[in-house]
Amino acid sequence: MNDMTRPDMAKAARAILARNDRGGYTVPTERLYPFQWNWDSAFVAMGFATFDVDRAYRELERLAEGQWDDGMIPHIVFHAPSDTYFPGPDVWGTRHRIPTSGITQPPVFGMALRHVHEAAVAAGDAGAAERTRKLFRNALRSHRWWLAARDPEGTGLVAILHPWESGSDNSPAWDEALARVPTTTTTAIRRKDTGHVDPSMRPRDVDYQRFIHLVDVYRDCGWDPAKQWKAAPFKVAEVQMTAILARSTRDLIDLARRLDLPDETTELTSMAETLEKGLAGRWRDDLSRFVSRDLVSGEDIAAPTQAGFIPLIAVMLDQSQRKAVDAEIAHWCEGMAVGVPSTMPSAPAFEPRRYWRGPVWAVINWLIADGLRHNGLNDTARRVERGTVQAMERAGFCEYFDPTTGEGLGGDTFSWTAAAYLVLNRRS
Ligand code: GLC
Repeated sequence: MNDMTRPDMAKAARAILARNDRGGYTVPTERLYPFQWNWDSAFVAMGFATFDVDRAYRELERLAEGQWDDGMIPHIVFHAPSDTYFPGPDVWGTRHRIPTSGITQPPVFGMALRHVHEAAVAAGDAGAAERTRKLFRNALRSHRWWLAARDPEGTGLVAILHPWESGSDNSPAWDEALARVPTTTTTAIRRKDTGHVDPSMRPRDVDYQRFIHLVDVYRDCGWDPAKQWKAAPFKVAEVQMTAILARSTRDLIDLARRLDLPDETTELTSMAETLEKGLAGRWRDDLSRFVSRDLVSGEDIAAPTQAGFIPLIAVMLDQSQRKAVDAEIAHWCEGMAVGVPSTMPSAPAFEPRRYWRGPVWAVINWLIADGLRHNGLNDTARRVERGTVQAMERAGFCEYFDPTTGEGLGGDTFSWTAAAYLVLNRRS
């Protein structure tokens, strides 16, 4: 890869999206993740928007096909069968007309919709308003679901009931909360991931037992949100999720204004204010970042993970918070070949090659850079973007990167990494 010029790299990134296209939707990578994933697709739609607006809309439209009647957009839509992934549709046992999983993922959808809409308008696409209007309805229903199902007490923070919902499956942030979850399962566990990728880079077997225990519990609740809320052995009011929801809500407000939808603008504004207030209360001066709360123990989750920086996309920090967060990110990146690590390198939990316990993820850097810019920290934003682009230029479009060496790890030919290249390459 390292002798490729930038236009070559952009061409290669587009080729990965084409290769992972399964007919209007994109799989994260072949074999390891052979279906449509929720937040992957939202990032991918933004990547497509750099060169093919029609295809960008299509990605979101196909994801919306999986939306449940109650508004939830599931984390996986099983458009077509594949036997290279576990757990498949039979384990989830959900009832949507297209098989889906029963949990969700970060709602990047709203951010992506605004991005795609703007690209379509810039390209003079006559059908943009109509396509955006329909998808806006999907997004709005999903945001209503989030607040009703995942913040029933109106705290301004939405909760995850499964680590997979966070998108950061085996993050050290979940260690304590997950340790309480039994390892017993009624479902037989047949992992496929460790046949595709070196097991030392993947979550451990004991993590999988707990992941599947949670699926068993929620399936037994008939996927009813109120029943799940009561039964959940794992429940975390999460700052990364809330921040993405809040940012997406602001992006939907922008679209509601353009589409001339005053009632929706009012509804979404009150939603955004609630979430931003909830997030602001999660800042910890002593840690220079935001923290989630374990709703089962009632304790803050102080584990140093990337999630603590994501609220910058939604919240305006004051001057001293800005300085503190800037210094904290610089500290995490000290001595690293590529930042920003998903776990602070000096933490005992740091494992530079194991998935969400240390590696650098391009889409996370994209969010961190957006948050830094939102807060006027442009130099650091540019540094993060440039470092991410260079990591891809050196190692290719891998699933993630070892921060200590820059080596590309996990699955290769990853869709959202290619999408991140297409977007970040234009900025750095
Ligand atoms: C893993 C990641 C998750 C991602 C999925 C597909 O489960 O943790 O964030 O959406 O793979 O790429």
